[in-house]
Amino acid sequence: MKALIAAGGHATRLRPITYTTNKHLIPLANKPMIFNAIEKIVEVGVREIYININPGEQEIQRYVGDGARWGVHITYVEQTGGPKGLAHIIKNAEGFLRGEPFLFYLGDNIILGSLRRFVEQFQTEQLDCMLAFAHVSDPQRFGVPVIENGKLVRIEEKPSNPQTDLAQAGIYIYSDSIFTAVNAIEPSARGEFEISDANTYLIAKGYKVGWQEITGWWKDTGKPEDLLEGNQLIMDELHFADGTKDAMIGPKVRIQGRVKIGKGTVVWDNVLIRGPVVIGENSSIRESYIGPYTAIGNHCTVENTEIEHSIIMDNAQLNAGTRIVDSIVGKNARITSTKETLPLGHKLVVGDNSQVEV
Ligand code: DAU
Repeated sequence: MKALIAAGGHATRLRPITYTTNKHLIPLANKPMIFNAIEKIVEVGVREIYININPGEQEIQRYVGDGARWGVHITYVEQTGGPKGLAHIIKNAEGFLRGEPFLFYLGDNIILGSLRRFVEQFQTEQLDCMLAFAHVSDPQRFGVPVIENGKLVRIEEKPSNPQTDLAQAGIYIYSDSIFTAVNAIEPSARGEFEISDANTYLIAKGYKVGWQEITGWWKDTGKPEDLLEGNQLIMDELHFADGTKDAMIGPKVRIQGRVKIGKGTVVWDNVLIRGPVVIGENSSIRESYIGPYTAIGNHCTVENTEIEHSIIMDNAQLNAGTRIVDSIVGKNARITSTKETLPLGHKLVVGDNSQVEV
């Protein structure tokens, strides 16, 4: 079996971060999000992975490389004409995939459990299409299955009146018959070749379509709060043996719980770190409290700041003199204390499409 990862698209809901960072490279627990997808795919024995990218994209290749770090082979496929829908990704990659079943994985989906059950069902039932469903509170955002008398009859994409609270998760397994489907469907009203229409085509034409509910945790990271939840849940799973051995830790620093601090990072006196926390390499922390579910990247400076449940990306500088919670701070961003210069008050340089709660 091969795999195809979707890693193109516009990611408008995660702006301004996605103006400069590809969504799939946003770090969760200090690891680019797409690494989670690759690891799940590698875990079920796939060795040949194709990654769909926007035309001209180079950042993903730089971070992910040729797959050698996972012992697999990765090929990048530019989506001709840009993000024209999930079924278009499959149409576009047909030449690479024909002849073998493949796992199609949306690179902005995070799953904690294994994909093994899905692969096994696809193989033992000799399916043409295997879908994964999960219960969600906002099914209108997703592809929603319509199940009548226990039988799957179609998938509706982003219905305004969903018939269930089930969502089609971004994990699919297909036989070659999917190429017939993606080549037969027309673009939807929003101009995209919808994966839900391709799946409905397979059901309608009598192909063998199976499904299973995801029992563990699954998340589509469409919105900033999803990133924070993803960061939290991945951190819950991490276990570090001697996680602070590579860092320089001052004598009066207190470290509690599961904490990982990278090489070259210095934690000066009067710091309390309460895990789970991950801090990258060559960062500096002083006079601060770093609370649970905080991930701080490489080359960051944190002083006079209390921070909890947040993602701080590389090269950020924080000297806030206050408490920061539930926040995402992008690369090279600076947060300083309002007390540094007069007049007192919040002084903001807020980029387009940013979000600030004061
Ligand atoms: O997350 C599950 C949902 O994903 C499903 O329930 C829906 O049926 C499915 O249509 C999809 O909906 P989204 O609105 O979440 O899809 P999104 O546009 O966010 O794209 C998903 C991923 O695919 C994301 O990593 C970007 C990438 N992508 C998207 C498009 C439209 C591409 O690489 N190329 C594209 O043309």
